[in-house]
Amino acid sequence: MLILGIETSCDETSVALAEDGTRLIASDVASQVQMHAKFGGVVPELASRAHIQKLTPMVEACLDRNGLNLSQIDAIAVTLGPGLVGALLVGVETAKAMAFAAKKPLIPVHHIAGHLYSPMISGPDKAYRHIVIQYEDDAQTAPDAIAESDRNTLADSAAAVADQREQLSRQQSSDLKFPYVGLVVSGGHSSLVVVESPMEFRVLGDTVDDAAGEAFDKLAKLLGLGYPGGPLVERQARKGNPKAFDFPRPMTRREHGYQFSFSGLKTAALQQVRALGEEAVRGSDQLKADICASFQAAVTDVLLHKAELALNETGLNQLAIVGGVACNGHLRLEAAKRFTGSARVVFPPPALCTDNAAMIAGLAYHHRQLHPGCDLTLNAQANLPLGPL
Ligand code: KG4
Ligand code: ZN
Repeated sequence: MLILGIETSCDETSVALAEDGTRLIASDVASQVQMHAKFGGVVPELASRAHIQKLTPMVEACLDRNGLNLSQIDAIAVTLGPGLVGALLVGVETAKAMAFAAKKPLIPVHHIAGHLYSPMISGPDKAYRHIVIQYEDDAQTAPDAIAESDRNTLADSAAAVADQREQLSRQQSSDLKFPYVGLVVSGGHSSLVVVESPMEFRVLGDTVDDAAGEAFDKLAKLLGLGYPGGPLVERQARKGNPKAFDFPRPMTRREHGYQFSFSGLKTAALQQVRALGEEAVRGSDQLKADICASFQAAVTDVLLHKAELALNETGLNQLAIVGGVACNGHLRLEAAKRFTGSARVVFPPPALCTDNAAMIAGLAYHHRQLHPGCDLTLNAQANLPLGPL
């Protein structure tokens, strides 16, 4: 069964084709990060506008490149929520129009359920395309087909892409089996979940304030590094000493259970910067690197501590770490060290950690086995809780 997936919940416009839930044929992602970087964070109105401009041409381009048209697709899947409502609406309304025009089943998918499913998907290197959308001051630019240069532009950071490509080429199907413990760490979510099956979840805990990715983004802002913060903090941290500053490990006492809280850590970093002097910190590469390394170590410790607790208490021996923060090299390394001999840790390749439609098209296959699809009254849901749709 061939499913076309659409994802527009935040600042990535993505279209994917997946077969039978696991085999990825195409995953096209147009990232708006450079566009929002100018404002230091996602501007919802600009995000929706860019989704409108890019989505339909991207669907066309993706089908064309794979020698397909809509009539050959078995179903159309779309992210229903959670996310920015204006951004979600672009995907949902586009999917509805396509499903209606092509008389195809319409399948809504939960964004976090998609992240939790992402390690199940694999595809060849050539299946992945990454486009960077630049900020255009003339926001009235016609929403025509994507320029060839746009289509073929890989992310700005050649090193990051080379790294990503290397990992993708080595990618094998993860052999992860249900049930497993899922740790979702993204810009909007930090949750520990028992994933019983593709669509059955038991949420153990989530964040009471900031998400892990949000904490990285806020630290980057504080240090004047740019946006999005995660990759920039990681880059700085490589040159720093993780023991330079003794940042707290919030909510790690047993009575806190599986809840996360990262806002106290952000405050501790702020106080440290003030104590050292903001100008002194911003002017010193070593201080910035040490703060980033110490902060990254604290976030990693908390995440892995709670994940270990979940593995011990559930008796499960597989852990999937998913979402944008799962790109983090330090987290990957520390997880591998910590769980060697006790549990299998699986990370999707970086291209499937950050937002993508591949996870939506993959998971939709399982929805389709159980449900006939939705009618055209389907509506985006910004605060959709994790559960059956
Ligand atoms: O999953 P995602 O693409 O979007 C959401 O659903 O939120 O995650 C984006 C988040 C951002 O906060 C970004 O800073 C973080 O993932 N991130 C990272 C890294 N790459 C992306 N955080 C830490 N280290 C990274 N290498
Ligand atoms: Zn996400």
